[in-house]
Amino acid sequence: MISQRNDARHWWRDAVIYQVYVRSFLDSTGDGIGDLAGVRAGLPYLKKLGVDGIWLSPFYPSPQHDHGYDVADYRDVDPVFGDLGEFDLLVAAARRLGIRVLLDIVPNHCSSEHPSFREALAAPPGSAARARFHFADGRGPDGSEPPNNWHAMFGGPAWSRVTEADGSPGQWYLHMFTPEQPDWNWRNPEVPAYFDQVLRFWLDRGVDGFRIDVAAGLFKHPGLPDSPDPEADARTRDSVNPLAWNQPEVHDVWRHWRAVCEEYTARDGRERLLVGEVSVPTAREHARYVRPDELHQAFFFDLLSAPWDVDAFRKVISEAIQDIAGTGSTVTWVLNNHDQVRTVTRYGEPAPEGSGLGAARARAAALLMLALPGAAYIYQGEELGLPEVVDLPDDVLTDPIFRRTGSRARIRDGCRVPLPWSGQASPFGFTQEAAGVKPWLPQPEWFAEHATDRALADTRSFWHLYRDGLQLRSSLPQLGDGTLRWLDTPPGILAFSRGDGLVCAVNFGTAPTPAPVAGEPLLTSGPCPPGVLAGSTAAWWITDGTHD
Ligand code: GLC
Repeated sequence: MISQRNDARHWWRDAVIYQVYVRSFLDSTGDGIGDLAGVRAGLPYLKKLGVDGIWLSPFYPSPQHDHGYDVADYRDVDPVFGDLGEFDLLVAAARRLGIRVLLDIVPNHCSSEHPSFREALAAPPGSAARARFHFADGRGPDGSEPPNNWHAMFGGPAWSRVTEADGSPGQWYLHMFTPEQPDWNWRNPEVPAYFDQVLRFWLDRGVDGFRIDVAAGLFKHPGLPDSPDPEADARTRDSVNPLAWNQPEVHDVWRHWRAVCEEYTARDGRERLLVGEVSVPTAREHARYVRPDELHQAFFFDLLSAPWDVDAFRKVISEAIQDIAGTGSTVTWVLNNHDQVRTVTRYGEPAPEGSGLGAARARAAALLMLALPGAAYIYQGEELGLPEVVDLPDDVLTDPIFRRTGSRARIRDGCRVPLPWSGQASPFGFTQEAAGVKPWLPQPEWFAEHATDRALADTRSFWHLYRDGLQLRSSLPQLGDGTLRWLDTPPGILAFSRGDGLVCAVNFGTAPTPAPVAGEPLLTSGPCPPGVLAGSTAAWWITDGTHD
């Protein structure tokens, strides 16, 4: 097996990308909200951690109904996050440090404040302006029923009714998320042409690629027929309505975007990356998005949704590798992001301590992920072992899921609390302590235990585990791109070899077990006596090759 890690043309195949949730990373202006200058100030920290690139969550002008996933202008920076000049400084600083920069692009929907949507609202039914979105007459004698029975992902109907210019109740428009996020009509050629300009705008400013929001969206089934199970999306919060998602036409868009990226690569040799947020029912469907002329990568979310169970992990890893083989892509692993409960909490720990079973399992999962073939994404705070903040009071919650459903189940504020950098009390260095200015979400007192200054000073911290794992990953040819071979192991243990003699084993049980490999491990996720793999622990070894 030949590692392609050092081949700059294919840097993305096994890159480790750090997701920066800009509003919660670091605030340079003292308004309680993180910003691009804060990201630039944090680059040396990320360099020290050892990541290959960053993905910036949306920073475009937006009314922030869904924290920037409601874009009012795709080619600018919201003043709360900085301006284009600051963006250019960030890209230049990242380039100097060898950190690639990915933007988050949101092509399925925009903001109801986007000029095109405002124009559509002001224009009459049947106009060219309305044809850029999905406007339709309502059902029933007075048009007071939505055009079809679809429900939005975040609760409620997927349609809202507008008032026409003459004040009469009018047509309806489609929004698969909130009413403030109208869906673009990708069957109208003006829409792909517009996004072509958006891509080029940012590529011309030097970005290395894009994370594509809702990449299985964009097209809806022609005619927008009723769904047999209209509440399926809202119920599962997965995009499962077969009429609203994963339509075959979307693949042509990704072919075109790939061609645009290749065009830029042909100019300067720098390979640009398209990584899709692709939520589709099967690994097989998923693989269709990463065929050689489509997206380079698509997040493989099955690992993230797997329970802490050896068989579940083995199954999703095997399926991912099998289904991705032959596509030209590599599996894109992810354990945390801005939409999910953080691993430390998800794997079973009652927050807030951050030092028990959930933390041990999250550490083990990190070593496992970094040993798997392919690329990996780390969500900010994951490297600090941050647990979810589960007890935010209702009145500070901002997630539209809470606003629309009134339910705290699966709200996302708890993984978006601003990072702790230093000190013993909020704002923990996240923001300047200007009088009265607080971080946009309250940080609990126990964030002190996870602050980066403490993490860097303590060699047993999550931070050191991630840093050591990343360093080894970049120096060992066995890790990164390539294949794996499962090893026979007793129940509860998962072990595989990579290339020439690297073995990774994880003990999913809580009791210690004899180490599956003799000799001293290179790295362990927790303390292990000689010859033992402790419970809820992962380890890496270099062997004499007998395991290959
Ligand atoms: C994606 C984003 C999520 C956002 C949604 C709508 O799933 O990750 O945060 O709310 O798209 O844009």
